[in-house]
Amino acid sequence: MNREATLTIDRDFTVAPIDPRLYGSFIEHLGRAVYDGIYCPDHPLADEQGFRRDVIDLVRELNVPIVRYPGGNFVSSFYWEDSVGPAEQRPRRLELAWRSLETNRIGVDEFAGWAKKSGAEVMMAVNLGTRGIADACNLLEYCNHPGGTKYSDMRIRNGHKAPHDIRVWCLGNEMDGPWQLGHKTMDEYGRLAAETGRAMKLIDPSIELVACGSSNGKMPTFPQWEATTLEHAYDSVDYISLHQYYGNAKGDSQDFLARCDDMDQFIRTVVATCDFAQAKKRGKKKIHLSFDEWNVWFHSKEDDDDRMANRPWQIAPPLLEDHYTFEDALLVAEMLITLMRHADRVKLACLAQLVNVIAPIMTEANGGAAWKQTIYYPFLLASRYGRGTALLPLLHAPKVRTSGHGDVDALVAVAVHNEAARELTLFAVNRDLNEELPLRATLRGFERYELTEWLAMESDDLKAENSALAQPVRPCAREGAAFEDGTLCARLRAASFNVLRLRENA
Ligand code: AHR
Repeated sequence: MNREATLTIDRDFTVAPIDPRLYGSFIEHLGRAVYDGIYCPDHPLADEQGFRRDVIDLVRELNVPIVRYPGGNFVSSFYWEDSVGPAEQRPRRLELAWRSLETNRIGVDEFAGWAKKSGAEVMMAVNLGTRGIADACNLLEYCNHPGGTKYSDMRIRNGHKAPHDIRVWCLGNEMDGPWQLGHKTMDEYGRLAAETGRAMKLIDPSIELVACGSSNGKMPTFPQWEATTLEHAYDSVDYISLHQYYGNAKGDSQDFLARCDDMDQFIRTVVATCDFAQAKKRGKKKIHLSFDEWNVWFHSKEDDDDRMANRPWQIAPPLLEDHYTFEDALLVAEMLITLMRHADRVKLACLAQLVNVIAPIMTEANGGAAWKQTIYYPFLLASRYGRGTALLPLLHAPKVRTSGHGDVDALVAVAVHNEAARELTLFAVNRDLNEELPLRATLRGFERYELTEWLAMESDDLKAENSALAQPVRPCAREGAAFEDGTLCARLRAASFNVLRLRENA
């Protein structure tokens, strides 16, 4: 049998223009994400506000357009007023979601400043766990209203004359989860989201609102939660959120790399549920998807459960500090490809998280370096070259047998056409752990395009990790891809992520 994959990429097989916010991320007041991660005034590289310049540089390199803040589970007991005003007067609080002491040294205003320095906009979450409509409205007034009212004047007194002008707002976090402070039933949440959203849009009609969907695709209330939430809140909101983390606790790497098929199915189901809600409402508005937490997360889980239960209250304890492997980077690449393949409905996505907590960027304590985890690189390549219009390739690939997902395609792929730059990029993962995959790609409508670069992430060791001292897992330039009779041919190594870049020959 001829064991090869064939792809047909046609200029007209368009999914949609990719919203740049697909390459968003997330910073929560959790562990060492904020304190020690982005903010570390004693560090030799700290700027005048105490933010680490080296971390800002890495975030800028990733070109993250939007960062969700301040949580996560944290937001459900967040009192935003405590986080603004003179720093020395801000109260300390027991932070209940992660059993930590919150100093409030960094708050709404400082984070808006950090985001600006990092080239990102803020995606703000409001507390619909232990608080409600009034507090959400007050925070919005504080952030976006020009002045002349109680909360906008409070912002001005705090030294921020110009509004922060925050466009995207999350109506709570994971309200379906029993772990969430102020956890709600779907009817309770749907009503609250509808009324909060309605009130917030009276203050600033230009904002976009994200209702909480399910905490993951395995929640017992999924997808009824989405249907009921939208039944109540369809008129008030613009997006519904999806969250999903995958792990390889069983150590079955071939099956682990099939998890992006679960992500694909999760997205399809949420799209169908949004369309069902729209049809039921006889509505004109399409509800889009905000995949605002996604990643691999499992390495740190048991440790963290124990630390959560047995830990004294402390400031910024190290939590959720997964050290990622090469195979984690492969799944992250597949998840990015899956998001691009759904660019017509997934308009926002946040790699969770950004620094120290299940993160692509890590920082060493005591003046140490910031360094790039394995998952930094697929995100970098997607964010750098995945701008433009997503094209869905017609794909025929050999199958790989898995223990939990049956026989799956060995190849996961998408193409992105950047018309302005006259570039075409093919993102392709060979997720077969044992077999090299010859690839033949027919490019229709790209006759004058030539291959300029083939970048690949490959390793003989699925468990290879990076550290502050060494970066063995990173992309390398590959040779050997070429056009044969008008077809682009390349041999993709077993377990590899490939970025084939083409440019129009002027
Ligand atoms: O990202 C870590 C946590 O995962 C977030 O706080 C929560 O929303 C999710 O369960």
